[in-house]
Order: sequence, then structure tokens, then C-alpha cells
Amino acid sequence: MSVRIAAAKLMILSALLGVTTSQALAAGDPEAGKAGSMVCASCHGQDGASAIDPSYPQLAGQNERYLAKQLKMFQSGERDVALMTAQLVGKSEQDLDDLAAYYASLPSKAAQATGSDQDIALARKIYKGGIAEKGVAACSACHGPNGAGNAQAGFPRIGGQSVAYTAAQLVAYREGARRSDEEYGGMMRGVSRGLSDREIAVLADYISGLN
Ligand code: HEC
Ligand code: HEC
Repeated sequence: MSVRIAAAKLMILSALLGVTTSQALAAGDPEAGKAGSMVCASCHGQDGASAIDPSYPQLAGQNERYLAKQLKMFQSGERDVALMTAQLVGKSEQDLDDLAAYYASLPSKAAQATGSDQDIALARKIYKGGIAEKGVAACSACHGPNGAGNAQAGFPRIGGQSVAYTAAQLVAYREGARRSDEEYGGMMRGVSRGLSDREIAVLADYISGLN
């Protein structure tokens, strides 16, 4: 029986059983992803954790589900960043799953927060408790106490991420320029709406030191 027929049968079976095909079939292959990652290294680093520009995100150790989803959204333009869309022209869904599996397999790196004690205390308070009067939910509820995220739910790791990248994303959600949280009911746009520039700056610094 050919692989294609086997896959089709599995798909029908999965549908009958109510199992999603993504669970049954779509796991990426990190080895294949590594081979396809050469072009990515010029911006994201060989190890996925030493971005050549501080505004470029670290990818190493990010969860596979989140990475695969972001790559698909860059490709479709749903997450509208021309520079990243251009990197993914002609790539199949399997290519993107493989790249996601590769970066998820690499060890993440954390930096050291550089803010004053006062700034770090403010950031920690928001991170762990939110700001009730402004409707800002505690970051730790979804991203975990150490910023590791939730791999199963596809909530991203944010601990150890570049300061400039994190700050830029929080601003982009707040301004509605990043809408990739649609599947989650716009939760990050909701969370960031109440954050001031200063709160975003101290949070981004604090988060870079979490691991
Ligand atoms: C020319 C530089 C450049 C190249 C080459 C590049 N990227 Fe990116 N990548 C970026 C930038 C800049 C961003 C941040 C976009 C933004 O502002 O949202 C990004 C974002 C990402 C993100 C989102 C990370 C997150 O935390 O949400 C992923 C995943 C990603 N890139 C994967 C890749 C892969 C895989 C390749 C190779 C196929 C690649 N990139 C090639 C510059 C680059
Ligand atoms: C209710 C759950 C939830 C809460 C609370 C939450 N987040 Fe998120 N966050 C998410 C999800 C889900 C995503 C991915 C959304 C997407 O695909 O764009 C995300 C994305 C992010 C990103 C982008 C990561 C990347 O690699 O591009 C940052 C930064 C972030 N959150 C920071 C925070 C901070 C700071 C707080 C607290 C002020 C917070 N989040 C609270 C669920 C949450």
C-alpha cells in the first residue's frame, strides 16, 4: 500500500474517530528542518538563539505548535511582516512543520534583566498579578511563572526573548498591528491594551531574564 493511500485512509479514520489530522499526521521532522534552516541563520543565528539584530526574535526552544502556526500565518500574510513572508515563498506546509520542529528542538538561552530594582519589582508585579484596574491579566497565567509558555496549548515561550523584540510585539498587539491572536479571541490585544509604554519597557526587560 502506498504511503499516500495509507495517509488518506488514516485521515478518513481520524475524521470518523473525531481525531484531528494535525494530531495524527503533521508532526515536523527536525532533521529535515535543520537542512532547510540555512537561510534563516543569517538573521536568527546558527543556533536560533543569537539573532544578529536585537529586534529579531530568538527561536530556539520555542514550542513547535506556536512556531508552526506563526510560520503559516507569515506565509498567508495573516501575520503581516513582509520580510518574513518573503522567506517562506514556495515552502510546503510540511517544510514549515519541519522548520518548527527543528527550532523547538534547540536549547533556549536567557539573558540578564538590566533594569533598576524598582523597575524589576514593577515588572514582576504585573507579570505575576496583572493590573486589575486596567484589565491587564497576569502574564504568568498563560506564559508560566518562568516564561516557558504552554507547549500543548501553543502559548509561546517568552522567557529569555530579546528585549527589543518583546517590546515591539506588545506595542504591535496594543495598536492592533499584530492580529495573529485571532484564534485565541484576540487575547494578547486585550491584555496589552492597558499597558503604558513604560510598563511595556520594564516588562520586556524583566522577561528577557526569565528562564
Ligand atoms: C532577513 C532576516 C530574516 C530571515 C532571513 C528570516 N527571518 Fe524570521 N524573522 C525576522 C524578523 C525581523 C522577525 C520579527 C517579525 C516581527 O516584527 O513580527 C522574524 C520572525 C520570525 C518568527 C516569529 C517568532 C515569534 O516568536 O513569533 C519565526 C518563527 C521566524 N521568524 C522563523 C524564520 C525561519 C524559519 C526562517 C528561514 C526560513 C526565517 N525566519 C528567516 C527576520 C528574518
Ligand atoms: C490568556 C492567556 C495570555 C495572557 C494572560 C498573556 N498572554 Fe501573551 N500570549 C498569549 C498567546 C496565546 C500568544 C500567541 C498569540 C499569537 O499567536 O499571536 C501570546 C503572545 C505573546 C507575545 C508574543 C511572543 C512572540 O514570540 O512573538 C508576547 C511578547 C506576550 N504574549 C507577552 C505577554 C505579557 C507581557 C503578558 C502579561 C502582561 C501576557 N503575554 C499575557 C497568551 C497570553
